[in-house]
Amino acid sequence: MADKVYIFDTTLRDGEQVPGCQLNTVEKIQVAKSLELLGVDVIEAGFPISSPGDYNSVIEISKAVTWPVICALTRAVEKDIDVAAEALRYAHRKRIHTGIGTSDYHIRYKFSSTREEILERAVRAVKYAKRYVEDVEFYAEDAGRTDNEYLAQVVEAVIKAGATVVNIPDTTGYCLPEEYGAKIKYLCDHVDGIENAIISTHCHNDLGMATANTMAGLLNGARQCEVTINGIGERAGNTALEEIAMILRSHKDIDLETNINTQRIYPLSRMVSGLMNMPVQPNKAIVGKNAFAHSSGIHQDGVLKDTSTYEIIDPKDVGIDANSIVLTARSGHAALKYRLKVLGVNLSEEKLDQVYEDFLVLADKKKVLHDDDLLMLAGADRAHDRHIKVDWLQATSGIGMKPVASIGLDISGEKFEAAATGNGPVDAAINALRQIIRRHVTIKEFTIQGVTQGSDDCCKVHMQVESERRLYYGFGASTDIVTASIEAYVDCINKM
Ligand code: KIV
Ligand code: ZN
Repeated sequence: MADKVYIFDTTLRDGEQVPGCQLNTVEKIQVAKSLELLGVDVIEAGFPISSPGDYNSVIEISKAVTWPVICALTRAVEKDIDVAAEALRYAHRKRIHTGIGTSDYHIRYKFSSTREEILERAVRAVKYAKRYVEDVEFYAEDAGRTDNEYLAQVVEAVIKAGATVVNIPDTTGYCLPEEYGAKIKYLCDHVDGIENAIISTHCHNDLGMATANTMAGLLNGARQCEVTINGIGERAGNTALEEIAMILRSHKDIDLETNINTQRIYPLSRMVSGLMNMPVQPNKAIVGKNAFAHSSGIHQDGVLKDTSTYEIIDPKDVGIDANSIVLTARSGHAALKYRLKVLGVNLSEEKLDQVYEDFLVLADKKKVLHDDDLLMLAGADRAHDRHIKVDWLQATSGIGMKPVASIGLDISGEKFEAAATGNGPVDAAINALRQIIRRHVTIKEFTIQGVTQGSDDCCKVHMQVESERRLYYGFGASTDIVTASIEAYVDCINKM
């Protein structure tokens, strides 16, 4: 019988740490419930001491989810562990994930400490966490650059102290697959009592090797892997859940299996991308728009004769439904509700009413709405309680004329109007807006992306601005590029 690999999902902790990807508690519950349906074994729900938002999310996710273990992150600090235990009080199955940096870089520069002292702190933290829960996972931060002999001493000591899982993170994404695999093998061969704990991988993608490193870890004895949907996470991200799940499913030669219901992968990928306003690169393995698109004539010919010629995965196995229905302005509330449910989005009646209103407005402009449009609408409801709202906007541009825009704003009920020129209609509209909101704001990043396709497409704008040395992230969506850009700008300003 194949060995089981436990899937530890950290989309809501490591993934959510990415600037601009923050979710509110309701959105986190939505993702957590979908992760449960996907079949993950562990959900890392947050880092409770880091903010009241994280603390509350761990509580609410613990109440909403039944089957997966709910995990809370801490430093090797007693107060962190107390708060994590408190936040986990409603979890049906709970785990505290505590740890400390073990590489010489961390020991010297982060802690100004010694290897001996760090080992003691690690053991103390595990013993302290054991007072609250049976299931304690220990992470040796920057294990990827930690000397193997010392790492083995730490791992042995924390297992003796009661750790049930030992996490070996390649925090900086530095390791080569052979090196990371050898590290896991070294621990299997040199740690007394290693059979009493599960070894976990946690790989970052800074050099594009997160999935390869995770596989090397699993092939050398690790039986849990820490992953995120779409590979989101700090800097270049974490290992993508969908990649590991599909590697293990496709490679029958590897005697390892997961509990993942792979047909739920694609809808959840779209949901996370929509809620976090984090586009998936088109050529992303498994869930990118082009992952199953064959454009060369030779490939198309082969696939039409038999899909096995060029496809190693059936798109249906990851939940890509080539016959997905499209909705129009005549589709009713029930059709929208049903389609969102198929996509893994279950909304309250009140939220569904809001989304339906936006749906009708968009369907009026764009004849047919695809799944991505619906997910965008379901995820983009934050505009409803803004105190600065755009009442109207007009922009004119063309060949041989200076672009000009005028705008009307409602700021907490008071009305303002302004007009300006610019080097294009978006620039003109932002200049007009700046005449009303006289705050020094610099645009640092501005991306425009089509949701589906065609000249009637809806576009999404992601914007990052800086004001008084702080960064703000905004999002806007519309069939009108100027409107979407202004909405994203106003979204940033509303957050200041
Ligand atoms: O990358 C890392 O080392 C982490 C730990 C906190 C588990 O995310
Ligand atoms: Zn990490």
